[in-house]
Amino acid sequence: MTTSAGAPVADNQNALSAGPRGPLLMQDYQLIEKLAHQNRERIPERVVHAKGWGAYGTFTVTHDITPYTRAAIFSEVGKSTPLLTRFSTVAGELGAADAERDVRGFSVKFYTEEGNWDLVGNNTPVFFIRDPYKFPDFIHTQKRHPKTHLRSATAMWDYWSLSPEALHQVTILMSDRGIPVSPMHMDGFGSHTFSFINAEHERFWVKFHFKSRQGKVNYTNAQAAEVIGKSRETYQEALFEAVESGRFPKWDLYVQIMPELEAETTSYNPFDLTKVWPHADYPLIPVGVMELNRNADNYFAEIEQAAFSPSNIVPGIGFSPDKVLQARIFAYADAHRYRLGTHYEALPVNAPKCPVRHYHADGQMRFFGSLTPTDAYYEPNSFGGPAQAAEYREPPLKISGDADRYDHRDGNDDYSQARALFNLFDDGQKQRTCETIAGSMGGVPAFIIERALGHFDLIDPAFGKGIRQALGHGGDPAADAARNTE
Ligand code: HEM
Repeated sequence: MTTSAGAPVADNQNALSAGPRGPLLMQDYQLIEKLAHQNRERIPERVVHAKGWGAYGTFTVTHDITPYTRAAIFSEVGKSTPLLTRFSTVAGELGAADAERDVRGFSVKFYTEEGNWDLVGNNTPVFFIRDPYKFPDFIHTQKRHPKTHLRSATAMWDYWSLSPEALHQVTILMSDRGIPVSPMHMDGFGSHTFSFINAEHERFWVKFHFKSRQGKVNYTNAQAAEVIGKSRETYQEALFEAVESGRFPKWDLYVQIMPELEAETTSYNPFDLTKVWPHADYPLIPVGVMELNRNADNYFAEIEQAAFSPSNIVPGIGFSPDKVLQARIFAYADAHRYRLGTHYEALPVNAPKCPVRHYHADGQMRFFGSLTPTDAYYEPNSFGGPAQAAEYREPPLKISGDADRYDHRDGNDDYSQARALFNLFDDGQKQRTCETIAGSMGGVPAFIIERALGHFDLIDPAFGKGIRQALGHGGDPAADAARNTE
């Protein structure tokens, strides 16, 4: 054992004191160092998605998609790229139980030869919002009330009943798909529309889907309560154990592809994060397989400090006009600079596995040396420093309009996709979803419940009726409305 400066430690058990009963001597620097380090063991947890589980793996191409993208990761069938995944719940803090009803984060960092590509998605194809102004308020309703310091069903239902664009995601969350039994037993989605650019500089819109080979398996509310009663760490246990014992989990990656200009003709906005693209119009195209096969040696260094960001794209893969995606391009790197520090991308887990050659200088904890020739510490320069490469320019975006604040609710249909989903459920699923929604409304004022029920009636009268029955209201909207005005 040595000090952090590398000198041997002679005693790590007994403090240096003036006699067996103390007091201590200032010169016992190792004691001071040890206590000081302990005080610095915590960094801020992620503001959302704080509780997570991750592992390393590989992505292997099984099908040729080079007509759509020039991305190096997809350049040939059989090619393998190393990756890191992190799965998470959204609302709970670092110590939250794993098997809670919540959306799951599904983050993948592909260490490609042309830079890191981060796909920071969820286990759902849609999300609660379509305008980024809504994100902080929505998340506040999922977190603790400032006075009670408890989660608030009233806040959640007040917000949701005032924000019908959330209904599609709420229906998924409250359904039988809401509590996966482990990270291995859920699908993953990029959720947003992204873009592919091929070698001919043609742009396609793309959605990413990971399908679990372990199957989609979820807990009922009763099962989850029992599981949490026995262990709060069931996901960490399951994922770590599967990878450690060689039962490597796998997902098949598929894409949906839309030609660039078709985005102007679809009846729905294809960049609206609350909507899916119908598979009948845009079928799933197989791409490859992701396998998780190595655990981190140090959870904090490699999973807690993993910094995923939708801003990390690579040649051949780009953004889309999706407003929520656009906001995320800012939010994540900002969070990482605050939480991890300026040079978070140089930490081993975040560092690309290809050469990095930028001119950013100095700053706290600059622990790596020059990335450019000695005299080339600015750009442009005459000393052989790295320079831009025009061949990586994206083609101009053909879609644009006048800059304005467009009402994201104008002309939007918040009900039909939720209706289509509800009607995919069998009777048992419908009933359990209604019961879960009713159960989540405990303590919510009647006028908020009524406003929410109005939306579920619009999704499908049977949906509203089922929730009313589960609430013990008898299922008649008119009678409920009358009771509410009494
Ligand atoms: C305007 C909308 C959004 C904003 C501002 C936002 C912001 C954030 C922030 C600040 C973090 C914490 C990052 C960190 O400290 O490491 C985070 C984590 C995360 N977000 Fe979002 N988010 C948004 C929407 C979404 C959407 C739509 C998805 C999925 C489709 C998503 C998926 C995730 C995931 C998976 C993580 C955890 C990443 C990890 O594993 O470290 N977020 N988000």
